[in-house]
Amino acid sequence: MKELEKKIKDKKAKIGVIGLGYVGLPMAVEFGLSGFSVCGFDIDCEKIEKINKGISYIPDVKTENIAFLVKEKKLSATSDFSKLGDMDIIFICVPTPFTKAKAPDISYIISATDSIKENLKKGQLIILQSTTYPGTTEEIVVPILEGTGMKVDTDFFVAFSPERIDPGNKVWTIKNTPKVVGGLTEKSTKLSSLLFSQIIEEEKVFPVSSPKAAELCKLLENTFRAVNIALVNELTLLCRRMGIDVWEVIDAASTKPFGFMKFLPGPGVGGHCIPIDPFYLSWKAREYDFSTKFIELAAETNIMMPRYVASLVSSALNERKKPMKNSKVLVLGVAFKKDIDDPRYSPSIFIIELLLKAEVSVSYNDPYIPSIVISGKEFNSKEISKEFISEQDCVIIATDHTSYNYKDIVEWANLVIDTRNATAGIENKEKIVRL
Ligand SMILES: NC(=O)c1ccc[n+]([C@@H]2O[C@H](COP(=O)([O-])OP(=O)(O)OC[C@H]3O[C@@H](n4cnc5c(N)ncnc54)[C@H](O)[C@@H]3O)[C@@H](O)[C@H]2O)c1
Repeated sequence: MKELEKKIKDKKAKIGVIGLGYVGLPMAVEFGLSGFSVCGFDIDCEKIEKINKGISYIPDVKTENIAFLVKEKKLSATSDFSKLGDMDIIFICVPTPFTKAKAPDISYIISATDSIKENLKKGQLIILQSTTYPGTTEEIVVPILEGTGMKVDTDFFVAFSPERIDPGNKVWTIKNTPKVVGGLTEKSTKLSSLLFSQIIEEEKVFPVSSPKAAELCKLLENTFRAVNIALVNELTLLCRRMGIDVWEVIDAASTKPFGFMKFLPGPGVGGHCIPIDPFYLSWKAREYDFSTKFIELAAETNIMMPRYVASLVSSALNERKKPMKNSKVLVLGVAFKKDIDDPRYSPSIFIIELLLKAEVSVSYNDPYIPSIVISGKEFNSKEISKEFISEQDCVIIATDHTSYNYKDIVEWANLVIDTRNATAGIENKEKIVRL
């Protein structure tokens, strides 16, 4: 332990990052910039090639930083997992999706841990960062690693530390966001905390008593968001019936300086976290004969929102004596939230699928996503122009990217379904239908 401690303090510890995606790459770069030598491991050869050429593929990571680190030999990437044996510290940042039946799919964690097992060396510290159910580190990762005959604490160290990165967030970054750490043993927690305090302020590292507590902490954070988003989504449906503007109500409630936190309704939840993570908890809860009712209810409410948006399109067209079938609808934004390039589980995709089923002629624009495959069909992002927008029967603002000129869009469009309140302040009751 002392040896690794010294290496961390001297920034001589070699860091390996398995999974160079939205979580792994920014962290690899942050450690590189703070003086550590980092090697990224991935199965995606395109990503490896880009990094080694000094090119970023994640909007929050600057190409100049990658180029600088590669030139300084502080960052490299490889698919040769035997090099894991040369690392002192290994992060696991691989995907944790769910199966069709909404059960956790931790096969990526298992495969990454298997690669570590094959190359495990005495004194290494392994930190799992992929979001997962409480117990994964202790029940899955550690037994695989101990399959080598080596033991935690005596031979190697293990911790779980949830990732809180928020793509597109310019205020809260890796450097200033507090980091929770739960080691399997005291030594594991101490080493992991010391490591994180090299890239973020020491007082922002928050140790907890076990990996389970750290794993559940992450699920609590995301379940909290899912449940509160569901609450405002439900309120939105009620407000429409009651003829009350939900956005005005939320703005008013947000003036309360204590005891209230602002959440916004929308076309549904998307991304790799909010729609998935709560299910990891409800799945694990079943092992304890426990039903997580809030999670189920929130999921039910949020999943319904794309259908609700499609129904708003249908009724607004109906009012204009137009059938859905063969109507032209432009969806603005397929990223799951504004100003990012990530379409995973985006509600826009579900909306487009529903429109296609209703035989609508659908097109989309997204400045961050040039093409996308939906229902087996490839779509290319359409240029926004006065001519194109005015040809559409309806424009849906599904993602409120900052670069859109909402005034022009409303002026040129025949009908706008605004799911994000992006047209706030633009008065045009005839054209705009807000959520
Ligand atoms: N994206 C976010 O905003 C965010 C935030 C917090 C936590 N998380 C969690 O972090 C984890 C990673 O998410 P992400 O968004 O970075 O995913 P991602 O898909 O962007 O990146 C994962 C990377 O892992 C690679 N990979 C898959 N299997 C591998 C293997 N066996 N060995 C090596 N590489 C492998 C993939 O090729 C990919 O490059 C997930 O558990 C996610 O829930 C994500």
